[in-house]
Amino acid sequence: MKKNLNILKTKTKIELGKNSYYVFLGYLLKKISSLLGKEKYGNKILILSDKNVFPIYGETVKNAVVSKGKEVTEIILPPGEKSKNLKRVEEIIGFCASGKMSRDDTVLTLGGGVISDLGGFAASIYMRGINFISCPTSLLAQVDASIGGKTGINLPFGKNLVGSFYQPSAVYVDFNTLLTLPEREKKQGMAEIIKYGIIKSRKLFQLLETIELSGLIEKLPDIIEQCVKIKGNVVEKDEREKTGFREILNFGHTLGHAIEIAYSPRLNHGESVALGMVGESYLGWKTGLCGKDVFKKIKAVVEQFKLPVSYRNIEIDSILKYLWYDKKVKKNKLRFVLPEKIGTVKKGMELNQKEINYALKEMVRNERY
Ligand SMILES: NC(=O)c1ccc[n+]([C@@H]2O[C@H](COP(=O)([O-])OP(=O)(O)OC[C@H]3O[C@@H](n4cnc5c(N)ncnc54)[C@H](O)[C@@H]3O)[C@@H](O)[C@H]2O)c1
Ligand SMILES: [Zn+2]
Repeated sequence: MKKNLNILKTKTKIELGKNSYYVFLGYLLKKISSLLGKEKYGNKILILSDKNVFPIYGETVKNAVVSKGKEVTEIILPPGEKSKNLKRVEEIIGFCASGKMSRDDTVLTLGGGVISDLGGFAASIYMRGINFISCPTSLLAQVDASIGGKTGINLPFGKNLVGSFYQPSAVYVDFNTLLTLPEREKKQGMAEIIKYGIIKSRKLFQLLETIELSGLIEKLPDIIEQCVKIKGNVVEKDEREKTGFREILNFGHTLGHAIEIAYSPRLNHGESVALGMVGESYLGWKTGLCGKDVFKKIKAVVEQFKLPVSYRNIEIDSILKYLWYDKKVKKNKLRFVLPEKIGTVKKGMELNQKEINYALKEMVRNERY
């Protein structure tokens, strides 16, 4: 990726009536002050970041915001999922209160999805909602977590059990931050990107099919822009998960969640979703919704980005057990989002236990396609 090309490459509006906002995309953390505007976002900005990200990008963002004459403070948390809890929320809102932040002021998150979920949630409840700006620095956060307004934290009973729908005032995606992102984290983002191609964009999927891993970084700006538009479009149609439209984002995730629970931390979310997409496209083929070619294409692209496709070292019975704990279980049936063709999926596909178990076991047994 080339540094300091056009600072602002493009912006995409997420149209949500009074909750609308722009996602700015480019090479722009350094110039964030010109985007911030003098009057907007109050006098006090709290930056929430983690110990991996802040040392690399924190000062840049801090200096830019200070140059606007704003008072800046920061909270820097240990990285990872363990920081996404109620105690941290208390710490953040306590900090806001002791710093006398008002409703005009702003929480700015700088980091991956953990930081934006946590900071967004704290911003949504402090004084019943203060400004929230998100600067996602992981690929997954740029294409997924920072778009759509879902914020939240984990409880000991499960992930994302407490949260809110709270749209940011703006999202600033800086592609250069991906240069320091560890490879395994990049691949997590790739799993969601492949998902967007399958559920909504044949064009994106076909582009992915042509990309060599070594040339990926150059292509990411355009890919990220396409993904922001796709997720934005889905969210615009179903902001608060009321119409069911947002359900298509769950492709690969029904099976993926069960795999993640059974195999965490050996497999992370992206790797589990990759396996979930392979398994669910197999189910699509076996139920006659799509052809074998669709399954093969999906598997090939997942493999191309060095994400796992094989269930050989996975105990399928334990996954099946977790699958039936899933919240989508209704009358011994599970709801899936399955592919029809590349770029189109069908949601609400109900399959019974026998069909699922049989098909997945068959997939594991044969595994050569
Ligand atoms: N709100 C939503 O709609 C939504 C959607 C998907 C996922 N999520 C949530 O997002 C979280 C996962 O997000 P994530 O994968 O970004 O996790 P993360 O925030 O833990 O980031 C992954 C790792 O990469 C590091 N990192 C991030 N950016 C970096 C950079 N530029 N350079 C170097 N290191 C960097 C982080 O410090 C961390 O160690 C989960 O908690 C998940 O529930 C939310
Ligand atoms: Zn996901």
